[in-house]
Amino acid sequence: MCGIVGYIGKRDSQDILIEGLKKLEYRGYDSAGIAVFTKNGLEVRKSIGRLANLEQKLDGQPLEGSVGIGHTRWATHGKPSDANSHPHTDNTHKFSVVHNGIIENYLDLKDELIAKGCKFVSETDTEVISHLVADEYDGDIVKAVQRAVKRMRGAFALGVLTEYEPERLVAVRFASPLVIGIGEGENFIGSDIPAILEHTRNVYILNDGEMAILTKTGVELMTTEGEFISKEIFHVDWDLVTAEKAGFDHFMLKEIYEQPKAYRDTMMGRISDDGRSVELTEIGMTADEIRAIRKIHIVACGTAMHAGLVGKTVLESLARIPVETDVASEYRYRSPIITPDTLVIVVSQSGETADTLAALREAKRCGARVLAITNVVGSSVSREADDVIITQAGPEIAVASTKAYTSQLIAFYLLGLFLAETLGTKDSAFIAEVVTAMHQLPEQVESILDNAPVLKQVAENLSKHNNLFFIGRGVDFAVAQEGSLKLKEISYIHSEAYAAGELKHGTLALIEEGIPVISLITQEDLYEKTLSNIKEVKARGAHVLGVVNEGFEGEVAKSVDELFAIPKTLPLLSPALSVVPLQLIAYYASLARGNDVDKPRNLAKSVTVE
Ligand code: F6R
Repeated sequence: MCGIVGYIGKRDSQDILIEGLKKLEYRGYDSAGIAVFTKNGLEVRKSIGRLANLEQKLDGQPLEGSVGIGHTRWATHGKPSDANSHPHTDNTHKFSVVHNGIIENYLDLKDELIAKGCKFVSETDTEVISHLVADEYDGDIVKAVQRAVKRMRGAFALGVLTEYEPERLVAVRFASPLVIGIGEGENFIGSDIPAILEHTRNVYILNDGEMAILTKTGVELMTTEGEFISKEIFHVDWDLVTAEKAGFDHFMLKEIYEQPKAYRDTMMGRISDDGRSVELTEIGMTADEIRAIRKIHIVACGTAMHAGLVGKTVLESLARIPVETDVASEYRYRSPIITPDTLVIVVSQSGETADTLAALREAKRCGARVLAITNVVGSSVSREADDVIITQAGPEIAVASTKAYTSQLIAFYLLGLFLAETLGTKDSAFIAEVVTAMHQLPEQVESILDNAPVLKQVAENLSKHNNLFFIGRGVDFAVAQEGSLKLKEISYIHSEAYAAGELKHGTLALIEEGIPVISLITQEDLYEKTLSNIKEVKARGAHVLGVVNEGFEGEVAKSVDELFAIPKTLPLLSPALSVVPLQLIAYYASLARGNDVDKPRNLAKSVTVE
């Protein structure tokens, strides 16, 4: 995730900016840069890779000045490179901008600015902002930023400097976090508290649509409409480690809570303004090429493979193309039938998983077109695939994947709708209905998160057991597999996920008095069938937790011991909700067992060996 830091005061800003960016390294980044007012004007240095590379560039040629902005970039638009790193400037080099977030309408704005004569030097959406602010400038940077912001759609936190007004640093927040640090004779901006914690514990936390104008001696707060506002100072009493986790005890919990944002960000810019269609401009296939697809193979590992299991149902039901989902480590060795009319979809959070990469290469060798769903721009998978859908989950730090998985689900929904529209397998009213339901998902996840204490209690009870089962039918079975993996990997409790109707073919022998069974019951057409499977395990003494849609608690309550209700959505979208309680159960069970939640034993975040 990108990081912002900014300084205006009496001290040399370069070290403050670099040290601030170092405090944000834990968030992950692929390039970095700073802009400082020096005696030569607004000077920028940036570099791909670690901050050490930037420091090397500054070594011997420091940027001396007491006002500056800095940024660590996690690529979203355009690969990691010096040119794509922030800060970005306009063509006169008088304006400089750092930006976190996504500008949804940047292509339209870019076309307009190019027509006015602007020359773009990067592939980023951010560069649009520096040209736009310069274009709007008529002697007042605050007004120019306000006018620019009015024209931008999306999510953004900004730090803006202009050489014309070196006494002012302008900051804006819209759906991407930004805090203002208040010092004595100096003030700061930071996308996160750790960036400025060394210098001050007094901060203003900006809300959406608010901006701050910082000088050495003060901070003015206003809305982006220009109305002055006042705010309480928030005193931070976190230590640095707590601040890195934004006050959460673990990165995993923080990332579970970041899912509503990850859903919104992954959808952002990919749904038409009227909400009736999906626009995946990153897919280079023509309509004829899409019509020529005869089958789809989804290939991935672990949690990403589980997203692929949901993806199979999504794509088959929306696009009516046959889909197989494979474990990447098996795919290559089973001599899969890959033909030029096969679309191979590889799914990988890191984009570096060795087995997934090998499967991708095998698919290409056989002449298939490869589409990647990945979270990391510039990763091996993203570079080698023909088409890439970037999930916008932001860097995932905890080993156990949560927000990356759910963002992969969102990517599959978008892809399914895009294919359905192109192939004419679903009409526009249906597509609009799904899109509307997708827009509700972030808030629905928030309401599940509000009930975390209930799941904590459930997890604490479960943590006393050494074996348990997850069961479900249809996509519920796919989610059950993810819930089971999550529990195993961080709590070390043995669990199995079973297709609910398959238990009676042998596994019922393992159901004995008191064994916990978590049953997903979200598919209306399968309710009765699942309920009869629940009866089978209940009759053998199992203790059943039912994860059920709101509105059906009454019916299910008679058959289970405990209930957790999730908000109602379309059956196909339910995995994006039903997995959340399972993530929380795994988290709290791990905690109850005293495990190292973020770094479970024997696992690595990125598995780059076969
Ligand atoms: C589980 C987990 C792993 C990964 C798997 C694939 O929480 O994180 O199962 O999902 O190693 O990794 P990526 O998605 O990076 O290819």
